[in-house]
Amino acid sequence: PMLRKTLVAGNWKMNPGSLAEATELASSLAAHEARDVIVFPPFPFAHAVTSVLGGDKVGSQDICHLDTKGAFTGEVSGPMIAALGIKTVLVGHSERRVFFGDDDDVVAAKVKQTLALDDVTCMLCIGETRDERDQGITVDICNVQLSKALAGIDAALMDRVVIAYEPVWAIGTGLVCEPEVAQDTHAAIRTCLAAIYDEDIAANVRVLYGGSVSPASVDDIMSMPDIDGVLVGGASLVPDSFFRIIRFED
Ligand code: G3P
Repeated sequence: PMLRKTLVAGNWKMNPGSLAEATELASSLAAHEARDVIVFPPFPFAHAVTSVLGGDKVGSQDICHLDTKGAFTGEVSGPMIAALGIKTVLVGHSERRVFFGDDDDVVAAKVKQTLALDDVTCMLCIGETRDERDQGITVDICNVQLSKALAGIDAALMDRVVIAYEPVWAIGTGLVCEPEVAQDTHAAIRTCLAAIYDEDIAANVRVLYGGSVSPASVDDIMSMPDIDGVLVGGASLVPDSFFRIIRFED
């Protein structure tokens, strides 16, 4: 894509199992000069990983949508994330939607909390389930998730929004979406952004693909015109795999 910079993101989810492994993973990445790369470690490891990589290369997997501080046991607020120097927050991952009750309203509130932080980007995840794909309503689902998550978000803030399209059935299953099929959905996501905002925003927002991305699939995925990067789960925990993904050839 001409206007958009490519981005490779690694979502570590609730991994790895120890601080030592987390800092080792981060250090191996630090030694690896590359394109725009961001990793999302679990909160307890975020400070150590940020010390190794710098805040520009580290994201938060979630944000508390209720307040900036107060009696919210177990939650982590936007200013706390920003205090670490972290510059990206993941919002609306399907695992949060499915396991932790992050419905479209919660997701919308988290987008707002994230964009209220100075200079912090929101990586918004959307995507259909297997059942929705089989029903042929993939685009409708994405449009609803996008419109609800972005309701009330000013056009001026859209340069701090990245969309991650992750078909739920492709996450952690080894069933990567066919690049051409993903491309169609990415194009539809831009059409939706153009309807909510305008053509300019639709052309400039980065839209990443996520779901079983591997060294074997990344080049074909990245050759698609509307796919600007990848959000990688499992393969981001394996240094050689992640490095190969970072070095994709588009
Ligand atoms: O957020 C990335 C993720 O959901 C994809 O996971 O393991 O299928 O690459 P994976």
